[in-house]
Amino acid sequence: MSVRPILKMGDPRLLRPSKPVTRLGTPELEALIQDMFDTMAAADGAGLAAPQIGVPLRLVIFGFDTPSGAPEEIAVPRTILLNPVLTPLGEEQEEGWEGCLSLPGMRGVVSRWAKIRYEGTDQYGNPVNRVASHFHSRVVQHECDHLQGILYPMRMHDMSLFGYIDAMKETAEAFESTDDSRRAD
Ligand code: NI
Repeated sequence: MSVRPILKMGDPRLLRPSKPVTRLGTPELEALIQDMFDTMAAADGAGLAAPQIGVPLRLVIFGFDTPSGAPEEIAVPRTILLNPVLTPLGEEQEEGWEGCLSLPGMRGVVSRWAKIRYEGTDQYGNPVNRVASHFHSRVVQHECDHLQGILYPMRMHDMSLFGYIDAMKETAEAFESTDDSRRAD
């Protein structure tokens, strides 16, 4: 298994819609998913979409092991999700900081649905059907955007809240006073 190079913003492959995964349970798919987990872990990300490593398939992984007792708002279960369909639940949107492994060192404030349902399957075709809110909801929306060729800056409304992490300390602190600032990848 191996850590694969992550494509960076500007690479046209990140802007192309991905195709549905049709061959489930194959050794090739298992190997791809393992490489994605290795790549995500090496980059310390919260999620990764297949097109970020140049594979144009509707496949995302996300999540991490959360310490027991951690607040529910920051938990994101480790998930393999193929051919996802997202449905917003309610009208509420939330603003929050995001980062992306395809834009290393940067972050920006993006508005996302506060609560969604996501459906799809795992790598064997078993159904996945969950309701997610807050950070979990944000991560899933961010990753699934990659499958449509959308990067988070393309969702931003206020470009003054976009920049390099090491230059934005004060901006981030001012914003943190009113909203959450955990990052998604
Ligand atoms: Ni990303």
